[in-house]
Amino acid sequence: MNLSWTDEQKIMKKMVRKFADERVAKAVEHMERTDEFPRELVREMGEKGLMGIPIPEKYGGSEMDYTSYILAIQEISRVSAALGVILSVHTSVGTNPILYFGTEEQKQTYIPKLASGEFLGAFALSEPGAGSDSRSIRTTAKLDGDHYILNGSKAWITNGGEADTYIVFAKTDSTSIKKGISAFIVEKGTPGFSVLSKERKMGLHGSNTTPLSFEDCRISKQNLLGEEGEGFKIAMSNLNKGRIGIAAQSLGICEAALEAAKNYAKERKQFGKPIGEMQGIAFKLADMATKYEAAKLLTYQAADLVSRGLPVGNQAAMAKMFASDSAMTIATEALQVFGGYGYTEEYPVERFFRDAKVTQIYEGTNEIQRIVISNNLLR
Ligand code: CAA
Ligand code: FAD
Repeated sequence: MNLSWTDEQKIMKKMVRKFADERVAKAVEHMERTDEFPRELVREMGEKGLMGIPIPEKYGGSEMDYTSYILAIQEISRVSAALGVILSVHTSVGTNPILYFGTEEQKQTYIPKLASGEFLGAFALSEPGAGSDSRSIRTTAKLDGDHYILNGSKAWITNGGEADTYIVFAKTDSTSIKKGISAFIVEKGTPGFSVLSKERKMGLHGSNTTPLSFEDCRISKQNLLGEEGEGFKIAMSNLNKGRIGIAAQSLGICEAALEAAKNYAKERKQFGKPIGEMQGIAFKLADMATKYEAAKLLTYQAADLVSRGLPVGNQAAMAKMFASDSAMTIATEALQVFGGYGYTEEYPVERFFRDAKVTQIYEGTNEIQRIVISNNLLR
């Protein structure tokens, strides 16, 4: 793996850092306070070509490698993890499934709009009774002439209500364990499809998380994604790439928390000297910096495998698990470095702490990543 950035990657990193520092930073306080979805920022990301970074130019994307995309998520998440997950879900599980499994007609219909940011994408796999055990979903899709009729409900859907297209997974064959699930592209506004009230979360304020409901929702057969029965494979293979996006979101949190803790340790004096000169604090910073570096290596390695078209399931699981655990540890330690001030809203470390927690939960909990990794080891 080449660890020096290409010119293209350097330009992307620099451009997104500038956008995050100048535009996103100003919106964070409002998002925190109101939990309002940042439509204007998403529109600006579309203008900058950020909504379709790894998408081929022929479908309106920026056609850059996966590492450039991962660097963009990291840079945005360094300032707002909420905006980071909006972009990650939109691209890696909201758009990629159409790119990798769609018909040419589906690609022409949806990808240019998604890649330009005119449309926002979402991914609807989880249900109230089926999170980690995603094969046990109960939403059904029954074929009726030229349509499938969807019934059921989804839970925890990122970009819910704001998205224009949803990749929805439903059972088309309740008797088949391996081939029972299919994937569909469902457009916002389809009769029978509704978005319910958003969750009130401890963190990621500004990122919508909503349940969805399907009641006799008729979807044209043309919106079946891939073959009937191919849904679980579509979900898993796109989640592999998506998990690297969550690893990058975690890196953004690691970087922000480490930077804040380092600066505070240099400024805050107790017992007549900066707290950073006390070994108890200095060693914390050393451990935090080492975890961050290791998390970067795993994440960039996984992104590089995607760019080279190589299998990535195992490395993506390792990157997601390690980077998110690192984000939680680093955010917790950063808060400790800040002492009592860290526990207040005066400093951003309490937000990093709240935002870090969910990276260990979504796109497969870290227990599930350990299952993926150990299955690969023991197979
Ligand atoms: N990549 C490719 N294939 C995979 C895979 C992966 N990561 N994980 C499993 N598979 C394949 C297996 O190889 C197997 O293939 P065969 O049938 O050919 O043998 C098949 O899928 C079934 O595998 P298992 O028997 O292991 O299936 P399982 O039902 O026991 O559990 C699981 C598999 C790994 C636990 C899976 O259900 C899983 O990943 N669960 C987590 C769900 C998840 O990640 N949800 C995220 C929702 S999106 C989201 O969260 C977005 C957000 O927050 C921002
Ligand atoms: P459960 O599966 O009930 O797990 C509960 C606990 O048991 C966890 O600690 C888990 O690790 C553990 N556990 C479960 N099974 C095992 C096992 N076999 N071995 C060991 N431990 C186990 N889903 C989507 O489809 N689309 C989205 O856009 C989306 N966005 C989300 C956004 C947010 C903010 C959140 C919180 C969730 C989102 N999710 C989304 C859902 C997310 O993927 C699930 O929450 C996650 O997969 C876990 O499922 P669960 O919450 O039902 O927990």
